Amino acid sequence: MSSWLDNAIFYQIYPQSFMDSNGDGIGDIEGIISKIDYIKDLGCNAIWLNPCFVSPFTDAGYDVADYRRAAPRYGTNEDLKKLFRELHKRDMHILLDLVPGHTSVEHKWFKESMKPEKNEYTHRYVWTDSIWESPEGMNCIRGISQRDGCCGVNFFSTQPALNYGFYEKTRPWQMSPDDPEPTATLNAMIDVMRFWLGLGCDGFRVDMAGSLVKNDKEGKGTIALWQKVRAFLDEEFPDAAMVSEWGEPDKSLEGGFQMDFLLHFGTSHYNDLFRCEHPFFGREGKGNVGKFADTYKYNLEKSGGNGLMCIPSGNHDMDRLSRKFDVSELKICFAFLLTMPGAPFIYYGDEIGMKYLDNLTSVEGGYGRTGSRSPMQWSGGVNAGFSSASGETLYIPIDPDPCRPTVENSMADEASLYNEIKRLIRIRQEHTALQSKGKIEFVYAEENKYPLAYIRSDEREKILIVINPSSQSCTFSFKGKAEEVLYRNGELSHSGDEYTAAGQSAVLVKIK
Ligand code: NOJ
Repeated sequence: MSSWLDNAIFYQIYPQSFMDSNGDGIGDIEGIISKIDYIKDLGCNAIWLNPCFVSPFTDAGYDVADYRRAAPRYGTNEDLKKLFRELHKRDMHILLDLVPGHTSVEHKWFKESMKPEKNEYTHRYVWTDSIWESPEGMNCIRGISQRDGCCGVNFFSTQPALNYGFYEKTRPWQMSPDDPEPTATLNAMIDVMRFWLGLGCDGFRVDMAGSLVKNDKEGKGTIALWQKVRAFLDEEFPDAAMVSEWGEPDKSLEGGFQMDFLLHFGTSHYNDLFRCEHPFFGREGKGNVGKFADTYKYNLEKSGGNGLMCIPSGNHDMDRLSRKFDVSELKICFAFLLTMPGAPFIYYGDEIGMKYLDNLTSVEGGYGRTGSRSPMQWSGGVNAGFSSASGETLYIPIDPDPCRPTVENSMADEASLYNEIKRLIRIRQEHTALQSKGKIEFVYAEENKYPLAYIRSDEREKILIVINPSSQSCTFSFKGKAEEVLYRNGELSHSGDEYTAAGQSAVLVKIK
């Protein structure tokens, strides 16, 4: 595994909304470059950049029209190369977003594929052989060309599904993953990866990674496909890092990904922690961490410790964490996020507690997600320092709250969420046991009970982490000698083996 992942802490940038350097109301690559030092100073050493390629933006760029060219609204490939260089100079890394499952309807492959005459791209996408037959289990595009067939779509109806074959074939038009046409699709995608890795990016976050081969209930075909990609990387770019949007580490890690996300969908019970009716991290204390911990342990065992399970603070598809939690609760969330194994991912703006904005009109296919995609709040200046454009031309409106958090006011306040996160990151950076590959052992993670306690360890040291999000104090039993408190937000006391975690506390203690 690329060694930089051992201690990677990612910062996710949604380019539209991060920093606008040229005053057109939308973020851009130069803007990102101007904020690298901010990200480094926070303590993050890696970036995941959402799609930044040529696109009609019906799904914010997840509808790629040219995989090899930066969208002009963000800049040029030269600007991206400069971004890679500037990051590498500071010992930082970057993952681009690879969208292998579908393209935009405007991609030249799709335009060719729509033609009734057979050509190189005829089977690049999932087409049935009659306009009247829909691909089972998928939505489809039909009636927009003279080709007699329907084309499956993966997400919106502007995103035709690329053809990687069917694990189980039930219809004559379906191909096997190893047939020449699906193989050509995979090779084309490998070429895209080769292109960007050649220009200096460090790897990819892979969109909908678990869904490429169709009729593949157990994921076996898709796992085999990613193993081929891994073989290519091992051969040509052994340091390239890959994180999957899959949400099933038992499968993705077998497929050769070094990292998978635990997400708001899938089997991980991530939502039990942050985004259900009674999340574990709420101070009301009605949550349940038990199922999350059980699934986590299962996945850990299944993966044999190979590969990282990454828990994001949020992303461009989820409600912001602050929708459910206030700043004190958020501090406890981050004590957890920054002390778990795997590489943490911080969604831009979560470090200052940016709000989810209700009732925004959808922008570029965001719908309910638009509220989590508003411009970064840098300062008390015009448009919160995001852009010099006039307010109405901004990509998405800025949080109108006059008391909105900004980087500027967060930095100035010792007690801010931002400064708490910075402290936690520093502690993680100083203790290898807390980093990506340090071991974890759950000490107390019971159904419907508080607190959550676990030990992180490596050959150098052992650290006990006790997290009590609820407002009530609670107890658990633990045999072990506390040595030195590394971090304290609230009290942890003990009498013999009985430990008491004060309401709303998070404590890290070195133990023997
Ligand atoms: C997952 C991405 O994160 C999301 O934003 C996008 O809409 C879908 N995949 C489709 O590509």
